[in-house]
Amino acid sequence: MAEALGELAGVFSLEILPECDSTNSRLLDNPPPDDGRVHVLAAERQTAGRGRRGRVWQSWPGAGLTFSVLWRFTPAAHVPAGLSLVVGLAVARALEELGVEGVALKWPNDVLIQGKKLAGILVELSSGRGRGLAAVIGIGINLRMPADAAVDYPTGVIDLASCLASPPSPSRLLGLVLAQLQRFLEIYASAGFTALRGAWQQRNAFADLPVRILGEAHELTGTCVGVDDDGALLLQTPEGLRRVLSGDVSLRLA
Ligand code: BTN
Repeated sequence: MAEALGELAGVFSLEILPECDSTNSRLLDNPPPDDGRVHVLAAERQTAGRGRRGRVWQSWPGAGLTFSVLWRFTPAAHVPAGLSLVVGLAVARALEELGVEGVALKWPNDVLIQGKKLAGILVELSSGRGRGLAAVIGIGINLRMPADAAVDYPTGVIDLASCLASPPSPSRLLGLVLAQLQRFLEIYASAGFTALRGAWQQRNAFADLPVRILGEAHELTGTCVGVDDDGALLLQTPEGLRRVLSGDVSLRLA
């Protein structure tokens, strides 16, 4: 996987571990010193991979690409609204570049093909101990899952081997995703999510469909009409337009 960076080597530094608990946890707990490059930590296997809402991200040898990127914000940066949506968009573009058809984004940031989950994204913010604000962007992409893999996802999961005649190597996929991440994060840093909102909405898996949001305390149903400039989900409900902020909610077709 080490050759993944190619000409991106001036922008990213890449560390690859044969095994670790979670690449997100590693970067959160032990962020490497800032050498001006964006640090990427990939693991061939995670023993305690984490997903959103306290879920587990399972891995099997050779079954997927799992890595995290430490993205440091400039000191004046505002709260990074919409960041996780931007990451989903970058993953979607990389997949489209490979020829994957029908890539869709499920708010806030699952990547779906034929309604099934191909990739997951976990963005966690880190700050403190004299360090500036940073985001640890964790990405897991299913490459070739074992036939008997049991993954708990309401509409099922899919891998790249089922979408492409010749799926990419993990290193090629990593290079493509990092190139897109660099491109989209630069746009995001200079112009915010507003500049990328249209591209996200073009891939919205639930555009104009009835959905329900499962929250901790209550359930909300409505028609998904897109996202706003902060990346909040917009639902048309009988009571009017409602904004749903990223958090512990999940989106299901109603
Ligand atoms: C989700 O779909 O709930 C998010 C899954 C994120 C998984 C990736 S794999 C690399 C990184 N390390 C982790 O522990 N999680 C993320």
